Amino acid sequence: MSREMHLGLFLIGTGSHISGWRMPGAVDSFEDLSAMLSIARQAERSLFDLIFVGDNLNADPGAHPSYCSRLEPLTMLSAIAMATSHIGLGATSSTTYGDPWSLARVFSSLDHISNGRAAWNSVTTANPQAAANFGKVHPDHARRYEMAAEFIAVVKKLWDAWQPGAAPKDRSTGLYFDPSKIAAIDHDGDFFKVKGPLNITRSPQGRPVILQAGGSDAGQELAAEHADVVFTVTQDKSEAQAFYRNLKGRLEKFGRRPQDMVILPGVMPVVGRTHDEAHAKLAALQGFVDEKTALGMLSERFNRDMSGYDLDGPVPDLGENQAYHAFASAMLGKARRENMSLRDLYNLVAAARGHWVLCGSAEFVADTLEDWFRSQAADGFNVMPPWFMDGFTDFTELVVPLLQERGLFRTAYPAGTLRNTLGISA
Ligand SMILES: Cc1cc2nc3c(=O)[nH]c(=O)nc-3n(C[C@H](O)[C@H](O)[C@H](O)COP(=O)(O)O)c2cc1C
Repeated sequence: MSREMHLGLFLIGTGSHISGWRMPGAVDSFEDLSAMLSIARQAERSLFDLIFVGDNLNADPGAHPSYCSRLEPLTMLSAIAMATSHIGLGATSSTTYGDPWSLARVFSSLDHISNGRAAWNSVTTANPQAAANFGKVHPDHARRYEMAAEFIAVVKKLWDAWQPGAAPKDRSTGLYFDPSKIAAIDHDGDFFKVKGPLNITRSPQGRPVILQAGGSDAGQELAAEHADVVFTVTQDKSEAQAFYRNLKGRLEKFGRRPQDMVILPGVMPVVGRTHDEAHAKLAALQGFVDEKTALGMLSERFNRDMSGYDLDGPVPDLGENQAYHAFASAMLGKARRENMSLRDLYNLVAAARGHWVLCGSAEFVADTLEDWFRSQAADGFNVMPPWFMDGFTDFTELVVPLLQERGLFRTAYPAGTLRNTLGISA
């Protein structure tokens, strides 16, 4: 196989559709470990590269249900690690509300526990409500990215501070650790002061995989320097191609090659055996949308209270977005192209929180994904099922086999770590 498609599973317990949990038989809790284990096993049977667990650092009962109550991602993934053996385990952790030493330590631990399957989704935390839980003032967008750049650099130094072979455990000489292979990092920067090293040896991947999901210019620069995998939000193939070209074009100045980064646009597939069956499922999902939750989501994405606008009027001028550049520009771009009303935008946000909705027969979905993959709009996709399990198994049972038949997607996991699965080096 020459170029191989990669698939991530975006795991939110109640699914990516704002009302997916209301579908008959749907998983209705992100705290239900046995449901999470079933989802992870299904993703592994279907040979997905990784599970990606999103996270928030605040609880708003008026928001999307998955945003308010959840298991802490690393704790949950440690349990999932024990029930799986190949699939990558990606957890979201903030660079604004955290410290590099603790973060490097927990991801190194997950990498040890899972034999090299850990991945860190490094987010700057766009939602300002998080600040109140840490006794802080929410830093502005530019500062959040300055902190993130230093944070990630420190984490990498900490992961590298233990060299391979630093723990010879030589019974004959009594040498347990080799001090010449363990170094302090003595980092003293603008935001963090960290002596190091970690109190854990180098993990199987050396450096756990770094995921990133910011789409602004600062977000892309950060990704170009550090990210192995980038999740994007997009609504249009030519927009995705431009983003792909632009981001891969930034790698050279950091001494990296285009193939060192995997770009995965988010997609919410709604799949049926026929076009009509798929559209009936989407109509059922949209029929469950409640106005209050959807308006809350729209307000979060646009970082302002949207309840005062006329839903049947045009999309207002929303100015610069200090929270979610990537989401805002993808959605506003689509609204302009398609002359959408605010209600259309609201329905789009309710459907997939601003992500691309791909609805149709399995053939149509596979054709579209293949087209994007072949035309350099994507290296694969971050699959965001609208609900679990049926909304996910529709994809794994109907679409994945088509991708495999076409030689686009693997039929077995390669040996080694998550880095081998993704086809990237450290
Ligand atoms: C696909 C995708 C997934 C994201 N997942 C999370 C998440 O789970 N938790 C979080 O705090 N932020 C998440 N974000 C937000 C980004 O990390 C970032 O903070 C936000 O997009 C603002 O950055 P930007 O202005 O560069 O786009 C996500 C963004 C995208 C595009």
